[in-house]
Amino acid sequence: MGKTASVTIVGMGFVGLTTATVFTERGAFVYGVDNDAEKIRNIAKAKAPFFEPELDKLIKKSISSGKLMPTTDLSSATKTSSIVFICVGTPMRENGSVNLEFIEKVSKCLGKEIARARRYVVVCVKSTVPPGTTENIVKKNLETASGKIAGKDFGLIMTPEFLREGSAVADSRNPHLIVIGAGDKKSGSIVRRFFSDLYGRKANILETNIVTAEMIKYANNSFLATKISFINTVANICNRLPGADVDVIAGAIGADPRIGRLFLAAGPGYGGSCFPKDVMGFIDFCSNIGYDPLLLKATDAVNRQQVFSVLKLIEENLGPIEGKTVAILGTAFKRNTDDIRESVSIKLIHELLEKGARVRAHDPMALENTRKLLKDAISYASSVVDAVKDADCIILMTDWDDYKTLVRTLSKYAKRTLVIDTRRFLKMKSTGNLHYVALGRP
Ligand code: UDX
Repeated sequence: MGKTASVTIVGMGFVGLTTATVFTERGAFVYGVDNDAEKIRNIAKAKAPFFEPELDKLIKKSISSGKLMPTTDLSSATKTSSIVFICVGTPMRENGSVNLEFIEKVSKCLGKEIARARRYVVVCVKSTVPPGTTENIVKKNLETASGKIAGKDFGLIMTPEFLREGSAVADSRNPHLIVIGAGDKKSGSIVRRFFSDLYGRKANILETNIVTAEMIKYANNSFLATKISFINTVANICNRLPGADVDVIAGAIGADPRIGRLFLAAGPGYGGSCFPKDVMGFIDFCSNIGYDPLLLKATDAVNRQQVFSVLKLIEENLGPIEGKTVAILGTAFKRNTDDIRESVSIKLIHELLEKGARVRAHDPMALENTRKLLKDAISYASSVVDAVKDADCIILMTDWDDYKTLVRTLSKYAKRTLVIDTRRFLKMKSTGNLHYVALGRP
């Protein structure tokens, strides 16, 4: 398969669309399939359905070069593609288990296409799925719907992704590792050739079996989440220990190559569409196979508790919350995204409302999504100045660059206030009537 390979990516969400555009940038022709017609129309007009740095520019290039072909029609897409990636969502259910309905649906539809295909088609699962899903659900559905046999008549691969929101394009362009979990030799070598053509011979490719590939994704995200819960535990201890500073500690332990500095930034707790869902999904999976994953449960418990560490800092320094005006800076679960899924900011807002606060929120990108969710329960500030003016307490939740100049703004517009910095992002000290409190520092 050469650089002009045509592949199909099913699911034009954050992972599917980013992957599609980067594949086209590297020479592939990509059919981008989604059953949401409006989304497909927008992509065809070169508009990203969500905010992700660099993505708009890249979609424009992919569409104008004719290499990205957005469509709602799975049949026409799969007609010419020998590799089909499944990138549909695997959301979390209320009870923490993984909702696999989209995986079920797509694998049945793909099976019908494979029934008609004359070529050897390789189906690659990229969605994050509990171990065993690719073999027990995807393979079964493909075989039943196609009347063909996996490994003989068509191929099956599990290839997890590691891209982060906010830096998804850069992560897709330079993956630190490409995992190919292959059900059989032939499909493994087809997909290895595809990735080598795209990313060059030096690409770091790991070939393994399907279930190990599924486990890699869960282990990877759970380890990172555990690192965050660990450093948040250290931060909470520091808050009770005069003189101790979590960032100095993180720098020191991070200098130990056995630990590493990344993902040791203490904060309000991890959010987003992956870590909370994947840790819970992994816990649920473990209990289904008769194992009690104590460490994962602790990671999750520490994370759920962290919003109360922030609340404690507010109450200790502000007194009773009832009737106070609280400005929340940042509702996105991290900077450079408009995503508020599982955002700790939103959880904090609910707690503050419960305690009778008047909440005013600001976010450079996520305000629309916040408004859709919280409606008129809070007020929305279109500028940082509007957010902080006359607030009794300002809480920095997301470390957007826009907040770097907050100190200057405060000295002009907020003469008497409490600032709680959950990310230790602001370069400020308590002065006059400005009281500065940082999570992880006494
Ligand atoms: C994550 C994984 O990093 C990525 O590999 C996977 O494919 C999808 O899930 P993402 O959720 O986009 O990516 O963001 P990430 O940068 O990992 O941050 C997740 C959460 O952890 C955010 O709420 C962030 O603020 C928090 N975090 C991260 C910390 O609190 N401290 C850190 O040191 C790092």
